[in-house]
Amino acid sequence: MRTVVLASDHAGFKIKEAVRKALIEGKSSWKVLDVGSYTEETTDYPIFAKKAAEMVQKRQAELGIVVCGTGNGVAIVSNKCKGIRCALAWNKELARLARAHNDANMLALPGRFITEEEAIEIVDQFLDTPFEGGRHERRVSMIESGC
Ligand code: RB5
Repeated sequence: MRTVVLASDHAGFKIKEAVRKALIEGKSSWKVLDVGSYTEETTDYPIFAKKAAEMVQKRQAELGIVVCGTGNGVAIVSNKCKGIRCALAWNKELARLARAHNDANMLALPGRFITEEEAIEIVDQFLDTPFEGGRHERRVSMIESGC
């Protein structure tokens, strides 16, 4: 079974919950791990984004979904982790292209700017889209050398 890890801060909590429930209660074949936060009490997004990114880095999860208010904080933190390609997406097409072209292994969602229904659609698209490879293979391999 493929595993996806979810994480959020307080601002992303409701969206993370909606995504978690949809994946668990729906027909999804993904095993879902949730590394918090578990409430809407104010907290710090790096704590949770790091937990999720480390799990993807160590291959304890194949993909990760991270949510904060804008999606930017959790994306920035996740992308500090070697081997992580975390893409911010606020619609299905951006999520599809992040997988197909960038082989993104993490998705960052802007919890304060999308609805629960939109989040579920975006996540479904992200999880269902394979990497296209081909011309994108070379470009993705160039990412790792950093700068
Ligand atoms: C929390 O208020 C907010 O700053 C955080 O969720 C996120 O948007 C940061 O990038």
